[in-house]
Amino acid sequence: MKGLILSGGKGTRLRPLTYTSAKQLVPVANKPVLFYAIETLLEAGIFDIGIIVGDTRDEVKQAVGDGSRFAGFASKIGLDALEIRITYIYQEAPLGLAHAVKVAQPFLGRDRFVMYLGDNMIEESIRPLVEKFRLAEGDCNCQILLKEVENPQSYGVAELDATNSNRVVRLVEKPREPVSNLALVGIYMFDHNVFEAVNAIKPSWRNELEITDAIQYLVNAGFIVQPQQVRGWWVDTGKQADMLEVNRLILDRLEPQIEGVVDRDSQINGKVVVAKTAEIINSVVRGPAIIGEHCRIVNSYIGPFTSINHHCTIIGSEVEHSIIMENSQILEIHGRIEDSLIGRNVVVEKSPIKPKAFKLLLGDNSRVGIL
Ligand code: G1P
Repeated sequence: MKGLILSGGKGTRLRPLTYTSAKQLVPVANKPVLFYAIETLLEAGIFDIGIIVGDTRDEVKQAVGDGSRFAGFASKIGLDALEIRITYIYQEAPLGLAHAVKVAQPFLGRDRFVMYLGDNMIEESIRPLVEKFRLAEGDCNCQILLKEVENPQSYGVAELDATNSNRVVRLVEKPREPVSNLALVGIYMFDHNVFEAVNAIKPSWRNELEITDAIQYLVNAGFIVQPQQVRGWWVDTGKQADMLEVNRLILDRLEPQIEGVVDRDSQINGKVVVAKTAEIINSVVRGPAIIGEHCRIVNSYIGPFTSINHHCTIIGSEVEHSIIMENSQILEIHGRIEDSLIGRNVVVEKSPIKPKAFKLLLGDNSRVGIL
């Protein structure tokens, strides 16, 4: 079986971060969301992975490379790193998830495959479901994952047969009046019949070829579409609140490890990772929290559910329940910074220059909350 990870798209709901960076590369616990998708596939025994890329292709290629950076992960799960194969597939415009499948046809050939939306994160291993699909060759053409949600209007939604919950009746993309609260998780399994579907469907109101419509085509044409409900958490990391939520969930299962310097005046409580070359000086870090390489935390408080990526400096400030991306600085800020997503190379500092006022240089679509 092959894997197809989608890592294109515009990421409009994460602007301004996505003006300069792919949404799939926003770090969760200091690791890009996309890497979790790759690891989930590897763990399920899928090593031949195509990645659909768009405008941000250079950045995605640079981050993922040829897959050899997953050697450590591979050996941990008893895999030979040499088996990992990454193929980049360029999609010229984000014309929909089903369009991405069309573009990937030369890579996929007649193999069965798992399609994985590169901004989705899931708690449980998909290995049992992949195994089930692998063994069901001939009896199952498509497997979809479903999860009960509170806001089905934001997703593709499935209606199952009231008398047989193994039978999909209808799938609707972002319905105004949802037929159920079962959302389509962004992980799908297909056989080659999906190409007939993606070639038959027409663009939706948002001018995209919807994978939801392609699956509905399979249902209507009598192909076997098997629904599977997932039990653990699932997050589509499209928005700031979702990023912070998944950061919290991942940090919760952190293995504490202090490799950097923690001076005698500092205090570390709970599950905390301090990477080598990081320094904690006269500060309190209350986990779960992760501090990346070459960070300096001085006279500060870092509270639970905070990820601080490499080369950040935090002096005389308090940060909690936030993601701070690499090379950023927070200097002498008096109020506590909470629920924040701070990009790369950002400086948030107390300004000594008169007049005493807020002085902001913010990109389009930035959002700042001031007390
Ligand atoms: C896409 C799919 C939707 C699915 C969701 C899962 O939505 O179209 O059916 O429920 O991913 O993340 P989008 O992220 O394009 O809005």
